[in-house]
Amino acid sequence: MHLKVFLPLFAVLGWVTGSLGHEPVTYTDSPGTGVAPGSSGPGATGSSGSYTTGPSAPGTTGSPGTGGGTTPPGTGTTGSTGPDIATLISQTAELSTLNSIIAQYPGLLASLSSAAGTLLAPSNAALDAFITGQGGLASITEDSIQDLVNYHLLPLSRTSADLSVAGGRVAETRLLDTDYANLEGTANVVFASAYGSTGQEVAPSGLKIYSGIGESANVTSPDLAFEGGLVHVIDRVLNFPRTCTQTAQTASLSTLLQAIQQTNLTSVVDTTAKFTCFAPTDAAFEAAGINLASLTNDQIVDALKYHSIVGDVGYSTAFEDGKEYQTLLGVPVTVHKREGQLFINDVAVQTGNVIMSNGVAHVLSGVLSPPANASGGTTGGTSAGSTAGSSATPLRDSFGISVGLFLAVISSVYFA
Ligand SMILES: *[C@@H]1O[C@H](CO)[C@@H](O)[C@H](O)[C@H]1NC(C)=O
Ligand SMILES: *[C@@H]1O[C@H](CO)[C@@H](O)[C@H](O)[C@H]1NC(C)=O
Ligand SMILES: *[C@@H]1O[C@H](CO)[C@@H](O)[C@H](O)[C@H]1NC(C)=O
Repeated sequence: MHLKVFLPLFAVLGWVTGSLGHEPVTYTDSPGTGVAPGSSGPGATGSSGSYTTGPSAPGTTGSPGTGGGTTPPGTGTTGSTGPDIATLISQTAELSTLNSIIAQYPGLLASLSSAAGTLLAPSNAALDAFITGQGGLASITEDSIQDLVNYHLLPLSRTSADLSVAGGRVAETRLLDTDYANLEGTANVVFASAYGSTGQEVAPSGLKIYSGIGESANVTSPDLAFEGGLVHVIDRVLNFPRTCTQTAQTASLSTLLQAIQQTNLTSVVDTTAKFTCFAPTDAAFEAAGINLASLTNDQIVDALKYHSIVGDVGYSTAFEDGKEYQTLLGVPVTVHKREGQLFINDVAVQTGNVIMSNGVAHVLSGVLSPPANASGGTTGGTSAGSTAGSSATPLRDSFGISVGLFLAVISSVYFA
């Protein structure tokens, strides 16, 4: 209801097409960060892309070297740091399904063999479930499999310890197909975190990989070394990043979806590169007393603009505690990292870092309302976030997104 009060204030503001304002979000995944040079296995000398397995990550599940035959044999004195990737996969019992798929597609083997970095390798159970969901391997095209492999390949060698840092880490993949990576030419990413989907949980739990649409995969056997890097076994196939509306649809964000469709903004939110979407749940809209039917289109457009950032992608790692970030409305939101949670204004992020083809979505437990006196907001110099969102209704309960529905819908949209 408060939103309705505020919205007319902003109806007079034009569509702001500029880039981020005074507080641009920055995306930091510069090569080399967290990849300490050093040696790991026996005989680690001189191969390109050297790496360290480092200390065990706190809270990661599984233990290195399980499964037998995965320890780098250190072949002779030639300076090899481990088997080649095909050999490592063939020697790892829990990757035998992956091994059999590779055997069927010589092109895959070639691209894997030339790859250095990190392979997030789905376990047998993960691949079996995925293939079954697709209606069998025969119904998956080789191009799709190649895209999928690319999304599971990180160009940098990253230890589980490096991926398990507090706050989480955004890691670039090799997925450049523009169907899944509309990021002005850069590859899409995964979010790795041992601290939940926002990276803000107070204590670490198992390392998880967050990808498209919102599910996560657990890293079950980390740090298996091959000559060009590391393999981490995961227990679920990663989901391709999807567009904003596909993501909203799959995540049952139907009020948001309706707002986007009703205002003809589908192509804007789906095709604008480097888009950050704050996505209130249906329950959040309802709790805020917002009924789309009673709002004008201009009001809905303004509300959507206040939930959007365009420019660099606002992964949780790009936000700093206490800072303001300019929205499309021209009025900034203030981000807080506290109490084990990520807050946009005073609204808690329920599921963070849902990777989209053109950016990222953070699912919100409340609706964002511009501060009451933000009429100066177009200059970016509003009063601080102390008043921002105070009228929003943060719902700290977990309105969990139905995993069952996710599974059903993901199967149908995966290779659409
Ligand atoms: C990941 O691990 C959690 C427990 O930490 C478990 O509940 C969940 O089912 C696992 N995910 C998959 C895909 O197996
Ligand atoms: C959305 O597009 C449809 C079809 O082009 C049009 O009839 C409708 O008026 C548009 N609505 C808005 C809010 O622009
Ligand atoms: C707007 O916010 C500023 C700074 O907090 C405050 O000084 C001012 O009184 C507010 N104006 C209105 C109209 O509420």
